[in-house]
Amino acid sequence: MADNKKNDDLDYETTGHSWDGIQEYNKPLPKWWLWTFYICIVWGIGYTIAYPAWPGIKDSTAGLLGFSTRGDVAAEIAAQEAKLGPINEKLAAAELTEIAADADLQGYALNAGAAVFRTWCAQCHGSGAAGAKGYPNLLDDDWLWGGSIEDIHTTITHGIRNADDDEARFSQMPAFGKDELLDAGQIDAVVNYVMSLSGDPVDAAKVADGQVVYADNCAACHAEDGTGDIFQGAPNLTDAIWLYGGDYDTLHETVTNARFGVMPNWNSRLSEAEIRAVASYVHSLGGGE
Ligand code: HEC
Ligand code: HEC
Repeated sequence: MADNKKNDDLDYETTGHSWDGIQEYNKPLPKWWLWTFYICIVWGIGYTIAYPAWPGIKDSTAGLLGFSTRGDVAAEIAAQEAKLGPINEKLAAAELTEIAADADLQGYALNAGAAVFRTWCAQCHGSGAAGAKGYPNLLDDDWLWGGSIEDIHTTITHGIRNADDDEARFSQMPAFGKDELLDAGQIDAVVNYVMSLSGDPVDAAKVADGQVVYADNCAACHAEDGTGDIFQGAPNLTDAIWLYGGDYDTLHETVTNARFGVMPNWNSRLSEAEIRAVASYVHSLGGGE
């Protein structure tokens, strides 16, 4: 009975329902809340009509406004390309040797080239371009195929020893051991001779024998004095900079089986402006022969 009394005291309306003497207050939601709720429903329906929303079997409804995040990205890329269009055209048309002289163009090329390098080159040449076994260090001024901007541009454009570009840099060292061009003693001797070229201590008698083997078999590519030949991508053997390694075992392996370093051609993947940008970047790293 106390409850009933409280009802009376507070003067609430009841719904008129009563269960076992328990009455139900009639306290509707506040009007402002209810209207906000209704407006949200209407807005929600409107939203699903205006924007892509309802999933279908293959696609979703497109929405009357034609909005899509993919479209947004495409538009942003197009805007960015339009903005960079003129400078890219200028880069693609410039004389290679004159890029460095134009401060604006060079600045742009180095930045863009660093980005291209991170995306396309770092996996083989290392993020800092220091290379790895079989992948040349691009920071030093020691070049297999030449370090002028033109040489670098050609190397990047066509690649090296790939089957996809007829103009790829190509040369092949014979596999002297595998193809039995030299016997074991001759290989041992010539490896000793090659080590002596970069000042490694070796067996003097073998070096003398090796020098003869070298003159007959190796000098045509690596030059009489061992300094290599960039027209054939034959490394300099005197500078203690090794693509594959200068210890006895690695040299033995190189002379026995030869190597066949492959780099893809980039003309099918990168634009001329991108190739020039990354060539400028690499040229700037190497000290620029
Ligand atoms: C799949 C691995 C790979 C990728 C990716 C790659 N390279 Fe190479 N690159 C090589 C190899 C291997 C060589 C050495 C080939 C040889 O032995 O002559 C080389 C050689 C070079 C050379 C010649 C160096 C010299 O001493 O003459 C340059 C320049 C070069 N790469 C630049 C680039 C640039 C720029 C990119 C990115 C656009 C790139 N490379 C991507 C594997 C790669
Ligand atoms: C037809 C040309 C040719 C001849 C002949 C030749 N080489 Fe080479 N040599 C090359 C080329 C090209 C490379 C680079 C291969 C690569 O990067 O895939 C090379 C690589 C090497 C290397 C690896 C250098 C490094 O930095 O790791 C050594 C060592 C070498 N040659 C020694 C010899 C010796 C010793 C002979 C003679 C017995 C010889 N070569 C004969 C073309 C030649």
